[in-house]
Amino acid sequence: MGGADFLQLSPATAPARGLTGWLADAIRAAIIDGRLQAGAPLPATRLLAGDLGVSRGVIVEAYQRLADEGLVSARPGAGTRVLGISRQAPAPWPAPGHRPAQVRAEPTGPPAERAHPALLPQPWRARAEIDLSPGVPDLSGFPRAAWLRAEKLVLEQASVADLGYGDPRGSRWLRTELAGWLARTRGLRADSDDIIIVTGVAQALALLARVLRDLGEIGVEDPGSRGSRDELAYWGLRPVPVPVDEHGLQVDALGDLRAVLLTPAHQFPTGVVLAPRRRRDLLDWATATGALIVEDDYDAEYRYDRAPVPALQASAPGLVAYAGSTSKTLAPGMRLGWLIPPGRLHTDLVEAKHASDLGSPALPQLVLARLIASGELEQHIRLVRKRQRNRRDALLRALREHLPAARVQGIAAGLHLLITFPGRAGPDTDLAEAILQAGVLVHPLSWHRQRPGVPGIVLGYAAHPPDQLHEATRRIAQVLRG
Ligand SMILES: Cc1ncc(COP(=O)(O)O)c(C=O)c1O
Repeated sequence: MGGADFLQLSPATAPARGLTGWLADAIRAAIIDGRLQAGAPLPATRLLAGDLGVSRGVIVEAYQRLADEGLVSARPGAGTRVLGISRQAPAPWPAPGHRPAQVRAEPTGPPAERAHPALLPQPWRARAEIDLSPGVPDLSGFPRAAWLRAEKLVLEQASVADLGYGDPRGSRWLRTELAGWLARTRGLRADSDDIIIVTGVAQALALLARVLRDLGEIGVEDPGSRGSRDELAYWGLRPVPVPVDEHGLQVDALGDLRAVLLTPAHQFPTGVVLAPRRRRDLLDWATATGALIVEDDYDAEYRYDRAPVPALQASAPGLVAYAGSTSKTLAPGMRLGWLIPPGRLHTDLVEAKHASDLGSPALPQLVLARLIASGELEQHIRLVRKRQRNRRDALLRALREHLPAARVQGIAAGLHLLITFPGRAGPDTDLAEAILQAGVLVHPLSWHRQRPGVPGIVLGYAAHPPDQLHEATRRIAQVLRG
């Protein structure tokens, strides 16, 4: 195969910016729609670069992205080949004869306290001089001026109908803007009619739990988000722990589950990016069994070393219910998010959304649509990403200085990192309590676990300037030295 003909690309259609994404999108589409079959070689990078009139680095980076997604193999010197993706229709939903499993061994652990970290008794939080709870962005950086300007324009221009009970899926304008935004930033394949505006990933999970309740159970990452697990359990789905290792979720442990929730772009709380092989295995598993993958893309905007790996949904929209929100990019208090389910669940989910609240508040949706359309959201995220990267670097410097032997994980993306203490005696809840005595609030890793494992602490760094991160680290080190 030579050149770029098979991709129907030409130098004339190349965008001024984002060449890598443009090329990766075209090749991904060709793989998914079958124009490129398993085993097909991709053109040599030098040849394709010549055909498209772009630098070879663009081609190398695009191939690397597709390898990260598990769509192509990349062995140095052996050329790049397409890997097979399952193209048969997913098995029927739910799988024939499936009965919700009634009996499963109760997971051992976790610590006895029931409260979701967000519901920790206020006095506990008040004892912290420096609150390093993960999952909270820098709220002082909320783009107040841009929001105010956009809201003023929205109020001047909104029609009377915009203020009535609307489509329970949410504002058409926002859904249209989001479809474009998510395609550009996360590779998503959805149009405005596929999207349901919700009040955050939390509501997306609540609606899914309602619609999937006959399954009885759902796999969740272990360790994984305590909040997500509690949300699912509250709405009647039993969260079954599925182990996570250094490659992400252990797909071969999914067994006879018929749904799984995971955070593939940046696993919470370990920070692992789901390995290409695991991505493929997961999609194969879902195709073969008819199971549903619930993709929580909670902080994917913040990848520091390179462009983030596209969403799983980009490879298999029919298998994945994709959920995201503005909680990490703007503020959790906005309660504004989106759910993009496979077609087979769409009607039931819209019905559940309608029954829950008749639709999300109208004005914030219109303001967000305007911020996307004007480019101000993108500008804001770029600014915040830079600030957060600086804060992460400051925390890493402080850790190197005060805790040089610490095992630090999950630094490539997100708003938090994880420190583990293999071999340390005693529960990490005691350690977190001792650190709190020193004025610093961290999450013990076991809060986010269902089964016992290595002790650790999760540190959110987004909300604090470098000097405070340094001070917090100094105090943590002092506690660890005993
Ligand atoms: C992994 C993960 N998923 C989901 C959520 C909830 O997000 P939302 O505010 O969009 O409901 C959080 C909140 O911190 C989280 O950490």
